[in-house]
Amino acid sequence: QNEIYLAGLAGIVPSLPMTAAGLEERAREELDPAAFAYVAGSASAERTAHANLSAFEKYRLLPRVLRGATGPGVRDLSVEVLGTRLAAPILTAPVGVLGLLRERGETLVAEVTKELGIGMCLSTAASSTIEETGARAGAWWYQLYWPSDMELARSFVERAEKAGAKAIVVTADTPALGWRPRDLQHGHLPFLHGKGIANYLSDPVFRAKLSAPPEESEEAMRAAVLTWSGLFGNHALRPADIARLRDWTELPIAVKGVVHPDDARQVVDAGADAVIVSNHGGRQVDGAVGALDALPTIVATVGDRVDVLFDSGIRTGSDVMIALSLGAKAVLYGRPWVYGLGLAGIDGVRHALRCLLADFDAAMGLSGCTSLHDLSRTMISSYRV
Ligand code: FNR
Repeated sequence: QNEIYLAGLAGIVPSLPMTAAGLEERAREELDPAAFAYVAGSASAERTAHANLSAFEKYRLLPRVLRGATGPGVRDLSVEVLGTRLAAPILTAPVGVLGLLRERGETLVAEVTKELGIGMCLSTAASSTIEETGARAGAWWYQLYWPSDMELARSFVERAEKAGAKAIVVTADTPALGWRPRDLQHGHLPFLHGKGIANYLSDPVFRAKLSAPPEESEEAMRAAVLTWSGLFGNHALRPADIARLRDWTELPIAVKGVVHPDDARQVVDAGADAVIVSNHGGRQVDGAVGALDALPTIVATVGDRVDVLFDSGIRTGSDVMIALSLGAKAVLYGRPWVYGLGLAGIDGVRHALRCLLADFDAAMGLSGCTSLHDLSRTMISSYRV
């Protein structure tokens, strides 16, 4: 904040928009239309994507005053989640195919999150390999899209553990991709262009399934993409597979994409260490509940046994405060920094993340909060719109 105002005295104003909505608007103007559609698009009529944002309208903070809690250096926003220490309760959400926005985008996100001391969750559908991203990242978790082949799933998990991942995040809401009209309209499924399959192409189990190395010819690459499409999703997964994953790795396990309390209970019974309440940014089941509306019930159901995390709709610092006050331990931040990446590469990611961090820090200070322990239901007023 101070940095920007001081630069302003010298006539320098930020070159990127200061809000999530502003970043989206600029991205709509400047990015390749198919790339923008991939990031901005959600499932079907995009009702759930809207519900994710409007759910935040139902809660208002009750800031405290005269708490002697303001001033620089007074606040400690750090948290330990799944054994990972973070400077703030924020991780970048796993977002696939960042190569569509910037060459080796994941490695740039790794560098910035490390610099800022927050977490990164690396997608299975990344355009950079597990190893090259892990080498640059600070605290990072690996997101698993569990393939239909068990040996390949295990290989991904073992590679991630070896490369330094601190947790495995199983995304449970994506046995297949949702119906996404904006991608469909462009006839463009980013994965099919080979940009989201770096981790498959670099995997020995995957390569053993190919008749020719994908580097050899365009035809061999096309064949590799077809092999990928046969392996991507897995409709057969059950809570027992979480228990199976427990045998494969020592790392803590989080299950992402849970909104039903019965599912939360089942995955925790099966051995998950955390549940991430999320509806994938509204990209999977349209008409599903706004993610924030699902959070209190999940916290009430499993919050005494495991950490509950949250994503889908975080856009501001006070959004982070509201999610944490409702019981989330940390949040995953999605689209806004992806627009930043597309607009200005590593500087754009840094800008978007620093804006959220500064907004969160300011909102905490102005609400009289010195640490995350100050965030609880007593900070919230339910507000029926
Ligand atoms: C995603 N998301 C996602 N989730 C996941 O587990 N693996 C993935 O590869 C992806 N890929 C992906 C791509 C894009 C372009 C988006 C926008 C989202 C979902 C993501 O992790 C998170 O749940 C949502 O982004 C949260 O919604 P908001 O807050 O970004 O709207």
